[in-house]
Amino acid sequence: MTNKGEHTLPELPYAYDALEPYIDEQTMRLHHDKHHQGYVDGLNATLGKLATTRAKGEYGAIQALSRDLAFHGSGAVLHALFWNSMTPKGAPLEGELLDAVKRDFGSAELFMAQLAAATKRVEASGWGVVAYEPVGDRVVILQCENHQNLTMWGVDPLLVCDVWEHAYYLDYQNRRGEYVDGFLKVANWAYAAKRYRAAKG
Ligand SMILES: [Fe+2]
Repeated sequence: MTNKGEHTLPELPYAYDALEPYIDEQTMRLHHDKHHQGYVDGLNATLGKLATTRAKGEYGAIQALSRDLAFHGSGAVLHALFWNSMTPKGAPLEGELLDAVKRDFGSAELFMAQLAAATKRVEASGWGVVAYEPVGDRVVILQCENHQNLTMWGVDPLLVCDVWEHAYYLDYQNRRGEYVDGFLKVANWAYAAKRYRAAKG
């Protein structure tokens, strides 16, 4: 966000080629500079149209605008989380988040197996999401279709994996499973743990 309320594209927290060989530089450039930028632009355009709508008091397009807000807004937020969900060489799952995962999934291995399976099997375009659910005080694994469907109210996402084809097709073609396995090699569990601590309050 800027002072004017316009959303801006956040910079990558590492170089475009820093995640190789698991995520290639060309994919990262297209994904960040074109796709993520597109969601940021779409979000700003939608917020502008909503401001005009309110000013005119004409709500004929409110359903489409509300959908656009959910789609572009979720796309912008999830991509910002996604870049931080990876780090060169990866960062291990440990500490308080590891303890929570063992409690809620039985073991780190069972947690990772469910995360890989859920992410690989998202129908069409979407995301694998690790989240903290505060009412039950649990860590949960969710599938998200597109950016905004099949989510769970009230959760704080901790780590996300983008499985839209634009995230992997140049290098992995249709081999989404290999891409997800590569993502898990560079997964930034230190970032997830930081978000977990913040969500727990
Ligand atoms: Fe994406």
